[in-house]
Amino acid sequence: MSLKDQEAAYEELNETSEEQEDRQYFEDELYRSQLPDSSNKDLIMDFRSGLRHMRARVVGRRRHYALDNIVTHTLHRRRSLATQLISSTIQDADATALPLYLEVSSDNDAMRVYKKLGFEECGTWTIQDLGRYGGRKGDGVVYVGMVREPGMTSDRDIQRPSGDAERDITQSNQ
Ligand SMILES: CC(C)(COP(=O)(O)OP(=O)(O)OC[C@H]1O[C@@H](n2cnc3c(N)ncnc32)[C@H](O)[C@@H]1OP(=O)(O)O)[C@@H](O)C(=O)NCCC(=O)NCCS
Repeated sequence: MSLKDQEAAYEELNETSEEQEDRQYFEDELYRSQLPDSSNKDLIMDFRSGLRHMRARVVGRRRHYALDNIVTHTLHRRRSLATQLISSTIQDADATALPLYLEVSSDNDAMRVYKKLGFEECGTWTIQDLGRYGGRKGDGVVYVGMVREPGMTSDRDIQRPSGDAERDITQSNQ
């Protein structure tokens, strides 16, 4: 779906926040029902919802591009392939004066690629205890929401989208 089509689809929805919550609930239920029985459904669903909330807190209702699942072949890393891939989306985002959003685990070196390309850390989401999902008790994970504002080229040049964007959303309903 092109950006214009997506925009039109959202405008057409014109939902109240209650309608949006209802739709999200049914979408989540459908998604959960399609997960394999052998998967860690609670973790996947909390992960999905946590990242969705962080994205909403970081970019709000601003139209934006989003990057997902950026991977390059293990044999061809550090050859600027990810940089080239992301740069092509940066060009589109700049041409339409829109921010570009992505999420990355805080301990992932990929963050260096993103920072070099002008992304800034704008919020975090934390699962404090993976023990409740069958992981090692006390182990946590932090995800970072990063934004690249249109036209920015380096960390130094970037302005935050809004004063209250940087915050941690911690998984609290354990
Ligand atoms: C992250 C990933 C996509 C980077 O791909 P890549 O093609 O190697 O990235 P680039 O060559 O464009 O890297 C550009 C710069 O980022 C930095 N960088 C990239 N990978 C790095 C690493 N592992 N450690 C430190 N710096 C790194 C370097 O500064 C690099 O420039 P340099 O090689 O001149 O020093 C790749 O490592 C990957 O697929 N990782 C596994 C999947 C993943 O974690 N994806 C991110 C999910 S959010």
